[in-house]
Amino acid sequence: MGGGKVQGEEVLTGGVNHVVRTGDTVRRPAGPWTPAVHALLRHLAGRGFTGAPRAHGLDEQGREILDFVPGESADYPLPDWVRTDEVLAAVAKLLREYHDATVDAPRQGPWYFPPVEPAEVICHGDVATYNCVFRDGRPVAFIDFDTAHPGPRVWDVAYAAYRFVPLHHPADGDGIPVAEQARRLRLFADAYGLGDADREALVETARARLEHLVGFMRERAAAGDAAFAGHVARGDDRFYETNMAHLERHAAELAPITPGRVTSRSPRSDR
Ligand SMILES: Nc1ncnc2c1ncn2[C@@H]1O[C@H](COP(=O)(O)OP(=O)(O)O)[C@@H](O)[C@H]1O
Ligand SMILES: [Mg+2]
Repeated sequence: MGGGKVQGEEVLTGGVNHVVRTGDTVRRPAGPWTPAVHALLRHLAGRGFTGAPRAHGLDEQGREILDFVPGESADYPLPDWVRTDEVLAAVAKLLREYHDATVDAPRQGPWYFPPVEPAEVICHGDVATYNCVFRDGRPVAFIDFDTAHPGPRVWDVAYAAYRFVPLHHPADGDGIPVAEQARRLRLFADAYGLGDADREALVETARARLEHLVGFMRERAAAGDAAFAGHVARGDDRFYETNMAHLERHAAELAPITPGRVTSRSPRSDR
């Protein structure tokens, strides 16, 4: 996008879209998915969920109008204040609240990504530090609902965990030791209140989400999308592949499976 300035509009830096702030609103390019996303945002507002901006239709240029949510978001390299256990647990709780508020949300598309079965909730699709608004160091809202689509809870939880734990290769700049990843992943699953089957599927689902992301990114780049071509050119796809291999290698160590559930010890053996 050109660096031209339009009076009263402040350009916000994003990964994909040209996003501007004007007064108390944000203007973003709309797409075929925008009506479904706005129906979702209206549903959330009706449920009293405050962790998402409200939508106000389209402006005269055909851009979507959203409330500006005051606060800050965070990109890589992640600042220390985003990497605390408090933020991790608070994001998991906000995600749980968001998902619970979407259980009875309209499923009618078109969505940016095709629905994934079982469509328990409306997944946000890109829960990450850069799509989260923090105030006083606490997560207060998710933004950038473009990628929302019906899907299973774990599909969204696994990706959010990848971003917030983070489950990167430890040698990456944002990487942490595997044991610390395992501890923080369990904390995330506990704070969300994730069920047993989803806990077992969590690490493999995180890997599958990255595989999906890499495939999508390469497809968009090949189709001539400048933003995704830029991501591929700087090696994002290869970076995610390194992380997929990391998740595969350490799947057993990372899995936040409830102790006791998998043991065959009988109660008598305690005596
Ligand atoms: N509703 C909003 N309230 C406050 N800030 C926003 C809002 N929408 C976007 N932003 C800011 O603009 C940045 C880019 O917007 P985003 O919607 O994430 O676009 P992209 O599709 O490019 O990722 C965000 O990281 C955030 O800092
Ligand atoms: Mg974004």
